[in-house]
Amino acid sequence: MLGWLRKSLCTDLAIDLGTSSTRVGLPGEGIRLDEPSVVAVGRGSSRVAGRGLAVGRMAAQMLGRTPEGIRAVRPLKHGVISDFELCEVMLRYFLQKATGGRRGLRPRVLIAVPGGISAVERRAVFNSAERAGAGRIWLIDQSRAAGIGAGLPVAEPLASMVCDIGSGSTDISVLSLADVVASESIRTAGDAMDEALSRWLRRRYSLRVGLQTCETLRIGIGSAAPLDDELSQEVSGLDTVSGNPRRALVTSEEVRAALLEPLSEIVDAIRLTIERCQAELISDLADTGIVLTGGGALLRGIDRYLSQQLGIPVRLANAPRHAVTNGAMICLDHLERWQGGLDNGLRAA
Ligand SMILES: Nc1ncnc2c1ncn2[C@@H]1O[C@H](COP(=O)(O)OP(=O)(O)OP(=O)(O)O)[C@@H](O)[C@H]1O
Ligand SMILES: [Mg+2]
Repeated sequence: MLGWLRKSLCTDLAIDLGTSSTRVGLPGEGIRLDEPSVVAVGRGSSRVAGRGLAVGRMAAQMLGRTPEGIRAVRPLKHGVISDFELCEVMLRYFLQKATGGRRGLRPRVLIAVPGGISAVERRAVFNSAERAGAGRIWLIDQSRAAGIGAGLPVAEPLASMVCDIGSGSTDISVLSLADVVASESIRTAGDAMDEALSRWLRRRYSLRVGLQTCETLRIGIGSAAPLDDELSQEVSGLDTVSGNPRRALVTSEEVRAALLEPLSEIVDAIRLTIERCQAELISDLADTGIVLTGGGALLRGIDRYLSQQLGIPVRLANAPRHAVTNGAMICLDHLERWQGGLDNGLRAA
């Protein structure tokens, strides 16, 4: 179809289907939606609350107000669909919202998914997107999109490395000549850090603290490297000995100690990815280093920590939470150039 005619009839959408947030971008227009990947359903039923509208931000708001009648469901775990029906509901809602209900042909969508997912899991994304109203569908590896979005010279004959730390998975890739040369995807990211923090608080303070509180604590005072001015924050939880609610003052040094285990798993995964590269590429990486994307990379001092552990330069991308969507938008904008490396559903079948 003529490019201009297609453009006027059909919307292209770049989707970062994340474990904690979904972002939708329209090439040429920017990111149109960034909302929690959450659906609120009635307790004891699978009906979406709020007459089918309790999705994303609206679901999160409703949960705060009427907690007893509804429960929150995240349709993705570790970047992979775990509830097909609700994922489809969520995608349909987000697609409509991002396009403002524009009429025309079914949109063409490019969806970023973790690199390590199986053919069956890929198929689930295709099916959900199709049933949610998408026309043509392509999938792109999350870290490849992140590299493109972070402005790395991924199409050059030079190795560059990107590490996307989300909430459900950390995706690491070495890219060269527009291809993924080596990659690794692990399930250790923001959520695993909160679980480690929760375990630590239980051991150290005999305090049972919810994962949401742990996330607030991690964002509030968490760090991967020593801070100039160390911080502290009070948390409330349930005393596991007395069974009574109790507060404790936690320091940033303590949170850092609790995060050591998940952080070292990320270091190991990066090492493994580097080891898989040829010697020439490894010597490139010593100069080009690693670019960090994803919300988990906003942890204070994580660039310094990784650089110290790995002995190569590490820097944080601009707008790390949006790098994947930005990269997918660039691919859609230059589809003829990138199409060969995208999954169109035929390979995965
Ligand atoms: N300022 C901050 N400091 C530390 N962590 C942060 C900050 N802001 C967000 N995060 C963390 O970023 C994570 C979410 O990042 P992101 O939006 O990239 O994940 P996602 O794309 O939904 O998940 P995934 O890619 O794993 O499927 C959460 O664990 C959140 O706690
Ligand atoms: Mg992500």
